[in-house]
Amino acid sequence: MCGIVGYTGPREAYPIVIKGLKRLEYRGYDSTGVALHNGKLNVYKKKGKVAELEDSIVGTNLHSHIGIGHTRWATHGEPSDRNAHPHQSASGQLAMIHNGIIENYNQLKQELINKGYSFRSDTDTEVLLNFIEEIKKNNECSLEEAVRVALKRVTGAYVILLMDESDPETIIAARKGSPLVIGVGKGEHFLGSDASPMLEYTKEVVYVNDYELAIVRPDELILKNLGNEKITPYVQKLDIELAAIEKGGYEHFMLKEIYEQPQTVYDCLRGRLDAAAGTITMSGIQQYAEQIINANRIVMVACGTSWHAGLVAEYIFEELCRINVEVEYASEFRYRNPVINKGDVIIAISQSGETADTLVAIENAKNNGAIILGVVNVVGSSIARMSHAGAYTHAGPEIGVASTKAFTAQLAVLTMIALKIGYIKGTIPQDRYLRLLKELEEVPEKVAWTLKHADNIKALAEKYKEARDFLYLGRGYNFPVALEGALKLKEISYIHAEGYPAAEMKHGPIALVDENLPVVFVATRDSYHEKVVSNMQEIKARKGKVISVISEGDETSAALSEDVMVVPEADEILAPMLSVIPLQLLAYYIGLARGCDVDKPRNLAKSVTVE
Ligand code: G6P
Repeated sequence: MCGIVGYTGPREAYPIVIKGLKRLEYRGYDSTGVALHNGKLNVYKKKGKVAELEDSIVGTNLHSHIGIGHTRWATHGEPSDRNAHPHQSASGQLAMIHNGIIENYNQLKQELINKGYSFRSDTDTEVLLNFIEEIKKNNECSLEEAVRVALKRVTGAYVILLMDESDPETIIAARKGSPLVIGVGKGEHFLGSDASPMLEYTKEVVYVNDYELAIVRPDELILKNLGNEKITPYVQKLDIELAAIEKGGYEHFMLKEIYEQPQTVYDCLRGRLDAAAGTITMSGIQQYAEQIINANRIVMVACGTSWHAGLVAEYIFEELCRINVEVEYASEFRYRNPVINKGDVIIAISQSGETADTLVAIENAKNNGAIILGVVNVVGSSIARMSHAGAYTHAGPEIGVASTKAFTAQLAVLTMIALKIGYIKGTIPQDRYLRLLKELEEVPEKVAWTLKHADNIKALAEKYKEARDFLYLGRGYNFPVALEGALKLKEISYIHAEGYPAAEMKHGPIALVDENLPVVFVATRDSYHEKVVSNMQEIKARKGKVISVISEGDETSAALSEDVMVVPEADEILAPMLSVIPLQLLAYYIGLARGCDVDKPRNLAKSVTVE
């Protein structure tokens, strides 16, 4: 996690770095810092969000044409001024920021302590920085050379940016396992964890690969591998507009992103789904269609909300493609020595494309001969590049830490893949296939309808905001939606919430039910509906407060519920893209009513690039 920004060129660096850090705060926000150069190296850093650093240095002379900045999500050492980045080397000559974890930092630290070093912070970063300085001093070599030598000793993940007091034009950067984008301007360069800090200045970017080192000056970008061989930078054109990363009049990114969903689901389907022609065009998937059809099994690997999308996809793939599907938490899958055979297909689902556990899980599986397909939102991200093929979700930048529009786009992509494979395999009857294509095409409109009919949710939030716990229940395709609804509430409002299969509730959670417990049923009309209605009765009989997400016109469920949120009728396979929307809004409004920072919930980060 952590966000990093850098600039070298003719402009004032500080405003560029600060604005960039604000855009990267989704990656962590427990402390902030910048290093600038004005005749000498100056470091300003502070516990807290970017705005707090900004306020604390008003009136300081921040003039500089070079700068690096960091917004932190703590791994080694509590959030504090002294653990904030940039760190300075023992001599004060070097400043460095770091995103990632140096796993063997203890060993390196001991070596340095034996040589007389002492440390001002608890971070692994300061250790690596002094290790670099020690090599530079001992070998009497350039900073670039010292970084290269040091990184050969390092295990773990990193993106580092370094400034040297004796070279006021150059930033040295290196990456392994954490993201680094370099923006190429005219006589200037920008660096960032993603492209958002550079969007208004350039659309030309270079995605730096693992084990690469960049020497970045205003009019020069040199890329090398750790063997000191030059690599030609591959410059790509970005197609994100600035408006996509701004709030556009909404109070929070989360709300904006919830309301973008009619458009993002549409963008995801656009150019791929043609219901009239009965086709789904996905070239990456097409290329591997035969291997998918013949797969022993498909394993969905993901974390968080993306894992919930994988659970929905499990039901869809098993139904439409008749292929055995397993859904794995990436963090478990990567460490438990799973049996992976040549015919296995792994689908990695990730908004950011940078989640460390997912990335390593697919790397291991790839090394064992599995085919890796990526369902990823961020174009050019590490997971996208690690995959053999895949399909982007095209939801646009998602900045609110709680994932919303990425989830519905993931569902849309996974549904299209399942439909395509099932059709080629012959496991979906032609009429059902055509009907589903047509209904899928209508989903953006139905999402818009759901949002239009959601004006009671703010009042529901007021009514239930003091609850201590929530239970979310659903069956079949709506069971993962119950999990996702509970996760959203936990993340945003800090209310304890649990998602459960509605029938399984009898084996434990029912003991929690009393007149104080709100129980949210995801109860759209589907093949499980009668059973869910029985479960509602069971909760009602024990005085639980039933709140339901129901299909329009479902009087039976409405009669059993204290409050309802309505979605339009849809095939059960497509229902999760609709039933999740009221739950996103409920979590948002409860979080807001409780005074929580919904875009930056405590302790969380959007992109978890540490394991
Ligand atoms: C973090 C985010 C979640 C996200 C999860 C997986 O926990 O806060 O919103 O679902 O990581 O991230 P990914 O980018 O791989 O989908």
